[in-house]
Amino acid sequence: MKKALITGVAGQDGGHLAKLLHEKGYEVHGVIRGQMEASHPRYKTLKQEMPFVNLVMADLLDLAALTRALQEIQPDEVYNLAAISHVGYSFRDPILTADVTGKGVLNVLEAIRLAGLEKTTRFYQASTSEMFGGLDYNRPDTGYTEEASFHPRSPYGVAKLYGHWITCNYRESYGMHASCGILFNHEGERRGPEFVTRKISKAVARIKLGLQEDLELGNLDAKRDWGYAGDYVEGMWRMLQQEQPADYVLATGETHSIREFCELAFKEAGININWQGNGVDETGVDATTGKVLIKINPDFFRPAEVDLLLGNPAKAEKTLGWKRAIDFPGLVKLMVQHDLGLEEAKLG
Ligand code: NAP
Ligand code: GDD
Repeated sequence: MKKALITGVAGQDGGHLAKLLHEKGYEVHGVIRGQMEASHPRYKTLKQEMPFVNLVMADLLDLAALTRALQEIQPDEVYNLAAISHVGYSFRDPILTADVTGKGVLNVLEAIRLAGLEKTTRFYQASTSEMFGGLDYNRPDTGYTEEASFHPRSPYGVAKLYGHWITCNYRESYGMHASCGILFNHEGERRGPEFVTRKISKAVARIKLGLQEDLELGNLDAKRDWGYAGDYVEGMWRMLQQEQPADYVLATGETHSIREFCELAFKEAGININWQGNGVDETGVDATTGKVLIKINPDFFRPAEVDLLLGNPAKAEKTLGWKRAIDFPGLVKLMVQHDLGLEEAKLG
């Protein structure tokens, strides 16, 4: 039985990956942070959700705890998913973001070496399309590939770039089987409510059921290459099954604006949106009732924005045989229907 260790197991991707690896017959260990005992409510919830995962307490900032975990578990594969992952938040706390999202990667790599596992344990680093930055000059028409140039636009993106290059460096320096997945946005029913897609799908459900008046958003014109998280964790696993380590882009090859996501999400709940006004005064209005459902709140603007992300997954499709299964309308439908179900269940 193969053993896997997932950092960030409590996050969106961690949950999907733990389930996938369990179904593939792995013994799954998951790193969580904090001072939780078995009686802690969050620990209990995680245990209920993923009873097949051995939960291990370690912070990405704590090299000793990570080394102990590696020594005890001796995993065949390590998936480093833990990070401060919210781009907007990284502007508010750039130093912690650098420590966790950047240097934290080095801690995991060093823990593998200190445990003497660098020749046997395979390593996955969660790199990101945020490293490209989406500026006109470095934006290929056919989408970013593994060869495209980087120009991160947030403290998060800069920290991730350190994690990316230190992983490449450990591969080249110590012959580690270390691969980076450069993943474009992936969403779903496990997405945190602070990310725009889940914020929208939750608000649509609550507005539809009369539990919320409206939805405040920032930049509606940013475009993202959005896929389904469940499809992307399969790609992570495939990377570590290759004979040679390498870096791969996972993306859909399509890009859509926040505005389009809103329109489709409200439509899924039977509400058509008309847009009125411009700039910060723009509103999204229910086409039937005339009620304002979407407003702009400049608090959600970022000091520097990534305007457009579009990935080219040709290498992953060819080498890994990976392809996304759920398309953009399918993703929006899945999220809205999930949140409608959740909110209805709460109402009883
Ligand atoms: P997520 O839901 O934010 O999960 C991140 C996890 O990291 C959380 O469970 C968090 O723990 C944990 N964490 C944060 N700080 C930590 C620390 N100091 N020590 C230990 N654990 C810590 O992120 P995700 O969407 O699953 O993404 C997984 C990874 O892929 C992240 O590295 C992200 O940056 C990267 N990525 C994501 C996407 C995407 O579209 N989802 C795209 C490209 C790359 P708590 O639960 O306790 O807060
Ligand atoms: N979060 C948020 N909240 N974003 C908003 C809002 C809002 O109210 N209104 C507009 N947006 C815009 C943001 O300005 C950004 O352009 C876009 O929606 C997407 O924001 P997020 O959903 O927060 O995701 P992200 O693209 O910044 O980052 C996610 O994807 C990266 C991969 O490209 C995260 O998962 C990162 O961890 C990941 O690396």
